[in-house]
Amino acid sequence: MSYIALYRKYRPQKFADVVGQEHITKILKNQIKAQKVGHAYLFSGGRGSGKTSTAKILARAVNCLNPIDGEPCNECEICKEALSGNLVDIVEMDAASNNGVDNIRDIREEVEFIPTSGKFRVYIIDEVHMLSTGAFNALLKTLEEPPAHVIFILATTEPQKLPETILSRCLRFDFGRISIDNIVKRLRFICEDANIQIEDGALRIIARMADGAMRDAISILDRCSQESDEIITEERIRELSGIPKFELLYEMATLLLKKDEKNVLQYCNKILADGKDPKVYLPELIKFLRDVALVSIDENLVSYSEDEKKAIKELLNESNRRTILQLITSLSDIENKMRWASDPTILFETGLIKLCFDMTETPAATSELVTKNAKEINSNLTNKVLTILKENGKIRLHADLISAKFELQEDGIVHIIFSGPIQMVSKENFQKDETKIAIKSAVKQAIGKEVSVKYDNFK
Ligand SMILES: Nc1ncnc2c1ncn2[C@@H]1O[C@H](COP(=O)(O)OP(=O)(O)OP(=O)(O)O)[C@@H](O)[C@H]1O
Ligand SMILES: [Mg+2]
Ligand SMILES: [Zn+2]
Repeated sequence: MSYIALYRKYRPQKFADVVGQEHITKILKNQIKAQKVGHAYLFSGGRGSGKTSTAKILARAVNCLNPIDGEPCNECEICKEALSGNLVDIVEMDAASNNGVDNIRDIREEVEFIPTSGKFRVYIIDEVHMLSTGAFNALLKTLEEPPAHVIFILATTEPQKLPETILSRCLRFDFGRISIDNIVKRLRFICEDANIQIEDGALRIIARMADGAMRDAISILDRCSQESDEIITEERIRELSGIPKFELLYEMATLLLKKDEKNVLQYCNKILADGKDPKVYLPELIKFLRDVALVSIDENLVSYSEDEKKAIKELLNESNRRTILQLITSLSDIENKMRWASDPTILFETGLIKLCFDMTETPAATSELVTKNAKEINSNLTNKVLTILKENGKIRLHADLISAKFELQEDGIVHIIFSGPIQMVSKENFQKDETKIAIKSAVKQAIGKEVSVKYDNFK
């Protein structure tokens, strides 16, 4: 027997099985009961949130011989044929692979014919945003005057790519991301039905990783359950998913709050070397810091062991709620950027190191520094910084800066004064965040304090 993926096996067959989209299914059921269905629907929303499933249910419900309270019976001749994919009156088309004008022209010719066995001919066009302009125009003609026996259900994750002319002719439903609680409920149902043993904590972790997409959640469950017949524990899911243990979060939080950029960098490397995915690690770190902030209000709000709570309180002694909340905001920024980045690892590293600087700009301390020892500092600043860069392995940067001068000026900023025109490649390099961080870090090492840095004569 061939293996059927869990997410297919548990595709919702009734509106009642579609979790978390009740605002949509309720309206659809009412339309069916009242026999007032529309002729063009647009189902938009995130991946794996139930668009195609709902379209299939709707297509059956309008054709079912004995609909029950707006639901398809799934037992009559028509429903059965539809469920096995053999009902000619339900046509599913993937616009990603059939995006040409000819594909839509075929539909336009077909729609003139009455349905073979059902009441309606239903066209489900998935990924409709992929249609070519010509195809959109052809579709529009049909949508303008659809024959009474035809229903179009367009589905897409990217409704903003659809022409206004199409949007305005459809009844639109937005499929929201599914909440963690709703995902957990559905997973629990599947586990009971498929006889999968799993801890509640494990279900919650899976639901959180799925980020609102039910299909992803079910696929993760599927993979974990195939590993062994033993009960799936929270511990095991953490291992499999790369979700970090307490220490890995605690240590990083401590370093970030201390603004210890050198060790933050090292710790980032350790985390990556451990095979942790920054896209999983960072949200966990944010969640951890949120818990730390909660402990500062009431330690009963979080669930950690006594030892862990004690450690968190120590962390709180050296910091305050405000700094922690600021850190959470900055980390969330990095998380957002990372979602779209082609190389999240670099963003993760530079983002975290940058935080050590962003949070330490304290002009008062700097101006004090200027008046007291600017002269002394400047006497060997350039040499010191260059040596440090070399020691830090920044050979290329060292070479690029060899004829520049570092000078702490009255504005409390270290000016890097270039002696002449800079080569194009070097110039680009100087503008990179990583470079600025490396320079700032070397300057900090040289002076022993955090100082802003500026390029002068940068041409
Ligand atoms: N709201 C939901 N309730 C229950 N199961 C769901 C839901 N959404 C998705 N699923 C599960 O995920 C699988 C895929 O769902 P579906 O094909 O309907 O998603 P989709 O929104 O069309 O996704 P895509 O945008 O990737 O095409 C289903 O077979 C089902 O197992
Ligand atoms: Mg789909
Ligand atoms: Zn039926």
